[in-house]
Amino acid sequence: MDIRKKPIRVGMIGYKFMGKAHSHALRDLPFFFEPAGVPVLQAIAGRDEAALKQSAEKMGWSSYETDWRRLIERDDIDLIDIVTPNHTHAEMAIAAAQAGKHVLCEKPLARSVAEARQMRDAVNKAGVIHMICHNYRFAPAVQFAKKLIEQGRLGKIYHIRATFLQDWLMDPEFPLTWRLRKEVSGSGSLGDLGAHIIDLARFLVGEINEVVAMLETFVKERPLGEMDQHLRGRPGNGQRAPVEVDDAAVFLARFDNGALGVFEATRFSKGNRAGNRFEINGERGSLRWDMENMNNLQVYLDGDEAGLQGFRTINCTEVEHPYAAAYWPAGHIIGYEHTFINLMLELCNGIANGCNPAPNFEDGLRNQLVLAAVERSDQTGRWVKVMEMLDN
Ligand SMILES: NC(=O)c1ccc[n+]([C@@H]2O[C@H](COP(=O)([O-])OP(=O)(O)OC[C@H]3O[C@@H](n4cnc5c(N)ncnc54)[C@H](O)[C@@H]3O)[C@@H](O)[C@H]2O)c1
Repeated sequence: MDIRKKPIRVGMIGYKFMGKAHSHALRDLPFFFEPAGVPVLQAIAGRDEAALKQSAEKMGWSSYETDWRRLIERDDIDLIDIVTPNHTHAEMAIAAAQAGKHVLCEKPLARSVAEARQMRDAVNKAGVIHMICHNYRFAPAVQFAKKLIEQGRLGKIYHIRATFLQDWLMDPEFPLTWRLRKEVSGSGSLGDLGAHIIDLARFLVGEINEVVAMLETFVKERPLGEMDQHLRGRPGNGQRAPVEVDDAAVFLARFDNGALGVFEATRFSKGNRAGNRFEINGERGSLRWDMENMNNLQVYLDGDEAGLQGFRTINCTEVEHPYAAAYWPAGHIIGYEHTFINLMLELCNGIANGCNPAPNFEDGLRNQLVLAAVERSDQTGRWVKVMEMLDN
């Protein structure tokens, strides 16, 4: 490591799906970029010592702790990275902030607005750097979309239609894992998938003012069990329990700037594995992006010559595209894991330079307000103002 650069000693809590994505990103960051702060994979925490030891060795962590509180207490940790289920986020993030550690937390920030507010207040009070892991913002094509919008190439934005479609839950015998237990996850497809497209919409279009929504749980009861990192189920002891969260969330939104949004987040969309897509229409052009083809941005610009108008496909791997120059020559595409590397760059630069990157806990709280408004609208059958949820 370059000794002129600030080392950022990381302690990560959790070590499975997101644990792998974050570990890889932290390791690869200095390989591709020149961050002002260089992550050091200091320690991971979990509960199962044998699995923890094996994961620490495989993913390159120097040590481990079987109690996350012990990790937070350690003097040789600067940043706590939370990659555990949603019900643990608030307690861990608040404890980390109170111990003076910077915090990266997976999405959704929390299970409720009340928890998200406490987390936001705790990091502000402690004066630590904070970030929420909405990694899809960091795909070069999405960052390029943002640039085109900011340059005014689309003019005034009228529409966004965004989906996050999956199908791994359609088998009625798929087990009831932590993602389907309300006290653990907070909500179902809404908080898991909807939170990502809400973040993309806030990033690209602006703040959501009000929503009207429908939630549905198609399968009301499931066997208890676990799932693996490939989103496949492992049956448990045969016991069954009611499903308490939504399988699908659909909502309409009106933005502060007058744009209209149509959103759909579901785990019941056969054939769609990670259908994270958006289309944005402005007065002078449109953009389309699809996570499953994430290097490409489809762009329609009104200024094109008559007869040659149409959506063009831009492969966002040129040096002109955000983050792309750090990787490979043009056309040599990157993948899902690189979105996390780009996010870690912003976080480590933020910590080294003492300024908060985005999206941070303020964004996490804003996102949580929209999630809460969607739930309230489903319960009441009426439009709900997002900011009304702040006092709930
Ligand atoms: N950014 C993304 O694209 C993305 C993708 C998937 C999941 N997530 C989010 O990441 C978080 C983790 O999801 P995952 O898919 O990695 O889950 P996972 O089930 O694969 O892993 C969870 C990890 O947390 C550990 N853990 C659980 N309870 C704990 C506790 N009480 N104390 C200490 N460790 C505990 C488990 O041992 C495991 O290592 C969730 O908040 C989820 O919403 C984000």
